[in-house]
Amino acid sequence: MEGMQVLGLALILYMITTHAHGQYYSQSVSYESLPEKTTNLHFFFHDTLSGKNPSAVLVARPNITTGQSVAPFGSVFVIDDPLTVGPELTSEVIGNAQGLYVLSSQDIPSLVVYFDFGFTSGEFNGSSISVFSRNPIINTERELAVVGGRGKFRLARGFAQLKTYFINASSGDAIVEYNVTVLHY
Ligand SMILES: *[C@@H]1O[C@H](CO)[C@@H](O)[C@H](O)[C@H]1NC(C)=O
Ligand SMILES: *[C@@H]1O[C@H](CO)[C@@H](O)[C@H](O)[C@H]1NC(C)=O
Ligand SMILES: *[C@@H]1O[C@H](CO)[C@@H](O)[C@H](O)[C@H]1NC(C)=O
Ligand SMILES: *[C@@H]1O[C@H](CO)[C@@H](O)[C@H](O)[C@H]1NC(C)=O
Repeated sequence: MEGMQVLGLALILYMITTHAHGQYYSQSVSYESLPEKTTNLHFFFHDTLSGKNPSAVLVARPNITTGQSVAPFGSVFVIDDPLTVGPELTSEVIGNAQGLYVLSSQDIPSLVVYFDFGFTSGEFNGSSISVFSRNPIINTERELAVVGGRGKFRLARGFAQLKTYFINASSGDAIVEYNVTVLHY
């Protein structure tokens, strides 16, 4: 009798696994085994276009001659910008923002940014958050959307509140204060 039960169980398992063949998805279950957490991050972002070692470089721009702007609508920049604890570039570096931004508005200076903020120290060393957002740089205070993350920020979502700390209108160099609220597991 016991032998029959074992055989029956084996048959059921066989049928389940056979049924799973050809399926590319698992059964959907809730992610509740891990509680969601909130982490606040505070740092300064240094976007340097001037000098011999700029951290932001213009890689493409439309070939229109109208207007005086060095970075007209349609320009694309690639960045590898240091992130520091304090507003000075000499203060402790805790990561970098890599990615690109595009001049995306036809009338006012405004960007769409595609950044990966990678952290290189402390609890979040090796983890990063992904930002994909409009960035109306004409406003001193603005907000960006956090759409994902890696490592300890896996499945992250949130928002970043920005305040321009310093801007050189002629060179375009800027230091921006970031307060980021991240929900993650
Ligand atoms: C812009 O590019 C187009 C197409 O290659 C070319 O015909 C035109 O002369 C260029 N204009 C300027 C100002 O370089
Ligand atoms: C960050 O992680 C890397 C790779 O694991 C390690 O080499 C480095 O020492 C760490 N840095 C800090 C400040 O913890
Ligand atoms: C970040 O938060 C601190 C403390 O709440 C506040 O003093 C600062 O003004 C905030 N900065 C931004 C850019 O939101
Ligand atoms: C602003 O940038 C210009 C051009 O690069 C430079 O000559 C000037 O010293 C800068 N001013 C400040 C306050 O950094």
